Amino acid sequence: MNRQLAKRYLFAISLSITILLNVSCKQAEPKNDIESRVNKLLSEMTLDEKIGQMSQIDPGYLSDEQIKQAVREGKYGSFLNVSGVEKINALQKTALEESRLKIPLIIGRDVIHGYRTIFPIPLGMASTWNPEIVKRAFRISSIEASSQGIKWTFAPMIDITWDPRWGRIAESCGEDPYLASVLAKAMVQGIQGENLTDPTALAACAKHFVGYGFAEGGRDYSTTYISEPILRNVVLKPFEAAKDAGALTFMSAFNDLNGVPTSGNEFTLRQILRNEWNYKGMVVSDWASVTEMIAHGYCADEKEAALKAIKAGVDMEMSSTSYMNHIKSLVEEGQLDMKMIDEAVKNILRLKIKLGLFENPYVDPEAEKQLLSPEFMEHARKVARQSAVLLKNEQNTLPLSTNITSVAVIGPLADAPRDQLGTWVFDGKAENSVTPLTAIQDLLGKTKVNFAAGLKYSRDKSKAGFAEAIAAAKKSQAILFFAGEEWILSGEGQSRGEITIPGAQEELMEELKKTGKPLIVIVMAGRPLAIGNTVEKSDALLYAFHGGSMAGPALADLIFGKESPSGKLPVTFVKGSGQIPFYYYHNNTGRPASAESWTPIDSIPIENSQASLGYRSFHLDYGFTPLFPFGYGLSYTTFQYSNLILSSNEITSDGKLTVKASVFNNGNVDADEIVQLYIRDRVGSITRPVKELKGFQRIHLKSRETVGVTFELPASALEFFNGKENVIESGKFDLWVGPNSSEGLHTEFSIK
Ligand code: GLC
Repeated sequence: MNRQLAKRYLFAISLSITILLNVSCKQAEPKNDIESRVNKLLSEMTLDEKIGQMSQIDPGYLSDEQIKQAVREGKYGSFLNVSGVEKINALQKTALEESRLKIPLIIGRDVIHGYRTIFPIPLGMASTWNPEIVKRAFRISSIEASSQGIKWTFAPMIDITWDPRWGRIAESCGEDPYLASVLAKAMVQGIQGENLTDPTALAACAKHFVGYGFAEGGRDYSTTYISEPILRNVVLKPFEAAKDAGALTFMSAFNDLNGVPTSGNEFTLRQILRNEWNYKGMVVSDWASVTEMIAHGYCADEKEAALKAIKAGVDMEMSSTSYMNHIKSLVEEGQLDMKMIDEAVKNILRLKIKLGLFENPYVDPEAEKQLLSPEFMEHARKVARQSAVLLKNEQNTLPLSTNITSVAVIGPLADAPRDQLGTWVFDGKAENSVTPLTAIQDLLGKTKVNFAAGLKYSRDKSKAGFAEAIAAAKKSQAILFFAGEEWILSGEGQSRGEITIPGAQEELMEELKKTGKPLIVIVMAGRPLAIGNTVEKSDALLYAFHGGSMAGPALADLIFGKESPSGKLPVTFVKGSGQIPFYYYHNNTGRPASAESWTPIDSIPIENSQASLGYRSFHLDYGFTPLFPFGYGLSYTTFQYSNLILSSNEITSDGKLTVKASVFNNGNVDADEIVQLYIRDRVGSITRPVKELKGFQRIHLKSRETVGVTFELPASALEFFNGKENVIESGKFDLWVGPNSSEGLHTEFSIK
């Protein structure tokens, strides 16, 4: 056995003994009260060691020996972007055996929608409106990530956004605060599990605190101006839900909010998070967001950046090193009170103790056997199925029969194993993807499938592949066109000004349409695209976002009718960039548009004298409605809503309404429907949205079955911030129960 192998062998033996000792004596460890353990440890720490705990870097920037030495000296309390059992156990061993205080490291990583088993991008998961399966997806992600030594994920990302140009809409839960809050809770619970000291538990990280999704122009990292009512009534809601769900950490953001960068913003980080919400968790900055306050023009230099970040309440600095370089002098010069340092360090130590890292710092090498387990991949298939949204289905083009004699599979996303995983995939592998082409060939047999990509990738403008694609279509009974975006066209730093389908995809679909064969378009993208033209051309259209490892089998299940699509849009689909921002819970304005008031631009008489034919709030070209509204999604059956009944038509401000309705499955397939409840506060001390989602339920209906739904609506759900205080105001309210934000049964009630 050569020396290297012997060394690794001995290391593995010694590590196993260490793990056994740790596991065996973990029961022996007296379970002191966490605060007394934190205070005792803090009292033993030097200022350098405290600063070390407040510093997190990507070790890729250092040599192995530099990292080991830094760990010995307690220079870093955390690393990110490192994974792998052996590497992390070795780092941990150095910390626990060679540093002075033997404080375990905490390893963080972006496990945003899966570790090795990749689920749909979060915007796709939001389209399921199914917190239970989303929670399970994040639990699976933690089971896989923890098996690699990761104990902290920088998720959930719960930034509300109204702008599909923004590349990070892909990672978000969409535009609605209520849906995002329900999902934030599910994601945190999935990530952290039932018991924080369980080896599969990861610390969640509610990000990016706060307002990052309101980047002007949809350009990533750009300025955000958000009024306090929108901040409190919309943007902060999912973060409050994450806090209530027990998220152990928050991440401050890149954006400056109303002139103050969020990584130095005392209003959001201290006033709201700490004082109003009494949050006791730990706050980490985003990647170099502390020192970026210099570029913002909010700090003159790194030293001022460190000072403002700590005073605002950023406990740990990610990637940049202003804390390491300047805290000592700031304390010595009396600019920084040691109490603030101690608070930050206590938050960090408390996190490590809660995760059981002192008792159980090592990863069991056996755990990684669960990666990609059949159960995990089956769940990824289920989530991908429920995340797809049926937007059009003329003459019930879908589902196709598996008895079809031949089908053409065309498009740049038909066999793109990496693209279908979507953005923010560090540890997923394209080789584990099952593409739509593979899944359909497996289902029908290869002889029935005529495959011709037609385009090499989503931005491909070359028509060289058109002829082959058209030929494939001509000899098939139906065309399945897999359109969309490469994964790199969304995510961080990947904002787009135009959000049309890229490359020559539209042209190719135009040519395929001419064959007269049914054209079924499936879109895999990282954002809502402006697909108006594609909708017109297609006979059926399924919007699948980027569906993850099992997108292929999931789409085959839907296309061939194993299950009916059930997804609903978590974000408005606009007709074009010019309509942005467009969100369903907009205010009414003093001149709301209506069909009667709008004259489409092409029907304005030539040489017309008037400036406007309607003097209403619309665009001459886009009108005043979106391409598809929030909450929209079709099914292979149809649902009829009836019998909307309220327990009362008047409640007190501490009362509650019971809302009942019936839903009938009027078709011959069983299917799920996501029933949605909206309200409108007609008159308020500030203007109020025309609609607000206040409840939803996914129900399963057999063919011809009627199912009753019941919602409990407490008056407290109608509380809002009016610019001065949180209020529940008396007056009349509208209430709807229906299939999306633009239709449903209507009634009204009052708050006395
Ligand atoms: C990135 C992202 C953040 C991520 C962090 C670590 O820049 O903004 O969401 O968690 O850095 O990768």
